[in-house]
Amino acid sequence: MPETRLPGGFVNAVVRAGDTVRRRPGPRAAFVHELLALFERRGWPGAPRFRGFDERGREILGFVPGHVAWEEHQPDGVTSDRSLARVAELVREFHDLTAGTPLAGAEEVVCHNDLSPKNTVYRDEHGAGLRPVAIIDWDLAAPGRRIHDVAHVCWQYAGLGPGAADAPRRVRLICDAYGLADRRGVVAAVLWWQDRCRRGIEAEAAAGAPHAVRLRAAGVVEQVRAAHDWVAAHRADLERALR
Ligand SMILES: Nc1ncnc2c1ncn2[C@@H]1O[C@H](COP(=O)(O)OP(=O)(O)O)[C@@H](O)[C@H]1O
Ligand SMILES: [Mg+2]
Repeated sequence: MPETRLPGGFVNAVVRAGDTVRRRPGPRAAFVHELLALFERRGWPGAPRFRGFDERGREILGFVPGHVAWEEHQPDGVTSDRSLARVAELVREFHDLTAGTPLAGAEEVVCHNDLSPKNTVYRDEHGAGLRPVAIIDWDLAAPGRRIHDVAHVCWQYAGLGPGAADAPRRVRLICDAYGLADRRGVVAAVLWWQDRCRRGIEAEAAAGAPHAVRLRAAGVVEQVRAAHDWVAAHRADLERALR
């Protein structure tokens, strides 16, 4: 079967073969595959199906048709309030599906830990514009707290950083759509993620990891630092909107 390289990957070389995707399994692949199997058993359509391994040891995932928002500039539908709210609802759905399962262990839920438009498939199913329908790239999924994923959604989908438009209102919209009861730690969790992300790229690049070296060369370390400083400077406004 012919294979075509899929654009928008930041770590792995991902290819499409027919209605499947092939990618190198991540370090916690067994956990991820159990998670995807749980979603399939529960009939949740918001993640790709896991279909085993191919002859080259790559994981086989169902291809999710649609638009993956990996480029910097995106159509209005992707950045709309409706899409923002729907992403938050999707996150709520898989959090609730994993709460209380052995996969969540002693934690609240299973977190995705890399929620962003570049890991989201959008489709225009009702003629009203692109809306998120599925989340891909579950390599970093692990037991965690709801607020950690919600904060990552705030950072990545509301574009928290220099130039963010309407940030306090959009952060509130995300927390409302998710139904997050206690929002007091959201902004602190955004800052934690940004700090961790920058340090992670720096450390991995220093150790020679190719994807981290590429990100550093593309100026991502400075971008994430600027985003962190922006959130720190606007912390009071953001927290007021979440009260
Ligand atoms: N199941 C899937 N269905 C459709 N496209 C996919 C799927 N998995 C990956 N892709 C495409 O491949 C790209 C890279 O995949 P991803 O899993 O995000 O890899 P990486 O870990 O390198 O970021 C995505 O941006 C998307 O365009
Ligand atoms: Mg990805």
